[in-house]
Amino acid sequence: MSLSQEIIDRFNKAFKQARVSGEQEPTAMVLATSDCKGRVTSRTVLLKALDEDGFVFFTNTRSVKGQQLAVCPRAAATFLWKTSGCQVQLVGNVTLVSDEAADAYFSTRERGSQIGAWASNQSQPLDSRETLMARFHELEKQYEGREVPRPPHWTGYVLSPETVEFWNLGEYRLHDRVLYTLEDAAWKKQRLYP
Ligand SMILES: Cc1cc2nc3c(=O)[nH]c(=O)nc-3n(C[C@H](O)[C@H](O)[C@H](O)COP(=O)(O)O)c2cc1C
Repeated sequence: MSLSQEIIDRFNKAFKQARVSGEQEPTAMVLATSDCKGRVTSRTVLLKALDEDGFVFFTNTRSVKGQQLAVCPRAAATFLWKTSGCQVQLVGNVTLVSDEAADAYFSTRERGSQIGAWASNQSQPLDSRETLMARFHELEKQYEGREVPRPPHWTGYVLSPETVEFWNLGEYRLHDRVLYTLEDAAWKKQRLYP
């Protein structure tokens, strides 16, 4: 079931307010995943697209998050926009984007970042910074004069929420909370006590 236009509009409005109020990186969200034993982990990733299917981020499938999503394709994500006093929380299922969509986004990245995606065994032990830089320079040479293809282990994921909560800072800690919940193929909206 897709996101409602009301939720997308509300998110875009809050995002814009965050940017206007001086938030340095409003696309940053803390993404929590877990394995099948309930071992929860979290880290920051950047939101790269939003449409009715959900919230898109890109990463290495061999990372901790990638390995966890392979066995438990669910996640929670939180945007914190301090400058505008807003938080948005999402919970839902996660799926891979199509290879075409991943290729299209990869091709827009800076060449250095494209090579970086090949150079990094994300989340694996690294003996020294020099090893990483040597790998990077080796790959620079390898791809000299030609396009850098997308690594097969680097792709995008869509978090398709079944709950979306908007939290806005209020006076006397009387914050405003609006929760959208997907129930029986329809989005229900309710207020929550702060
Ligand atoms: C502001 C910020 C943005 C980040 N954006 C991404 C991102 O979009 N994709 C990504 O794979 N890692 C990103 N990272 C790095 C992750 O937080 C994390 O270190 C990495 O993905 C490995 O995570 P994992 O081993 O838990 O899967 C970002 C880190 C910061 C601080």
